Amino acid sequence: MEAEPVPPIPNQPTAEAVITVEGLVKRYRGAAANAVDGVSFDVAPGEFFALLGPNGAGKTTTISVLTTTLLPTSGSVLVAGHDVARDAAAVRRAAGIIFQSPSLDLNLTAEENVRFHAVLYGLAPMRPTFALMPAGYKARVHELAEVLGIREAVFHPVRTFSGGMKRKLEILRSLIHRPRILFLDEPTTGLDPSSRRSLWQYLETVRQDGGTTMVLTTHYLEEAEKADRICIITHGRVVSLGTPARVKADLVQNYLLVDAADRAALKAELSRSGMAFSGDGPLRLDTPAADVHRVLRAIETPLHLVQTHTPTLEDAYLEIVERPAAPDGAGPPAPLPAGGESEAAA
Ligand SMILES: Nc1ncnc2c1ncn2[C@@H]1O[C@H](COP(=O)(O)OP(=O)(O)O)[C@@H](O)[C@H]1O
Ligand SMILES: [Mg+2]
Repeated sequence: MEAEPVPPIPNQPTAEAVITVEGLVKRYRGAAANAVDGVSFDVAPGEFFALLGPNGAGKTTTISVLTTTLLPTSGSVLVAGHDVARDAAAVRRAAGIIFQSPSLDLNLTAEENVRFHAVLYGLAPMRPTFALMPAGYKARVHELAEVLGIREAVFHPVRTFSGGMKRKLEILRSLIHRPRILFLDEPTTGLDPSSRRSLWQYLETVRQDGGTTMVLTTHYLEEAEKADRICIITHGRVVSLGTPARVKADLVQNYLLVDAADRAALKAELSRSGMAFSGDGPLRLDTPAADVHRVLRAIETPLHLVQTHTPTLEDAYLEIVERPAAPDGAGPPAPLPAGGESEAAA
């Protein structure tokens, strides 16, 4: 008789994805091609997730589906466990949204903008002045304004605000109902560098304070590099997905340039030993950094030139962005890199 099987070690509670996007397709009415063309990704609770891509890549369209502004053409999208197509109201309760174009009423004070939002979300009854609003609402406004560093300004008309302040106010407003997930569509576009920096510091605070999951779109690579994971999309398709380190390892190919006084002998030797090379002048060997030493030791022809090249992530990103769209019917989107985020190469 067989021994009783050892009971399995109970599963560690795995963090359930807070957003699951599977095979999302969106085609606008009358459009010749899909704006979003089979996009899939997950976002973990508390994660800072960046959708990176050039103009027209499909970022706003994706965010609009995730925030129930647009219905998907096909595919499935769950946000905080709710299907965006079937349970839009529940999704909206779980999400805060910062749109690409500002949506504040400039004639109202900052607090009045926040108040109308709170009333709209059913968080508080409408009262004609801040003083008459319920204590809970007032405390929340003070708390958020404090974090934002716009304590006094919160009672000033929005038209006196700088671009950076307006953005912060929109973020404050969207946090008033304590959303689990904050969606931000290109929040730093149009801001000067110092406002951009201060907005980023603020987003960092929001994230650390409340453990809010953040999904942000950007076309700035250096912003995406600060995220936990990056999803690069171009022409409505995912071209790379993972930690910044992993995306970098995926995209960036190190190479070695070598040359010898007797180039013919060098070529002959490389061919003989099965080392692939390219180039008419100095020869290019596509060599991972870890292999450089081994490759150089193996070459016997005297070399007079040895250069290692590591393209920057910026180079790699530009190269991807400038690639033309795959023709229609070109088959499924480029395969995603296999999982294993934790073993990302540095
Ligand atoms: N309302 C719309 N109707 C038709 N096509 C649209 C509409 N909005 C966006 N598009 C097209 O969908 C594609 C993706 O756009 P968008 O999601 O705005 O990209 P991104 O936010 O990355 O710049 C683009 O080709 C754009 O022209
Ligand atoms: Mg956009």
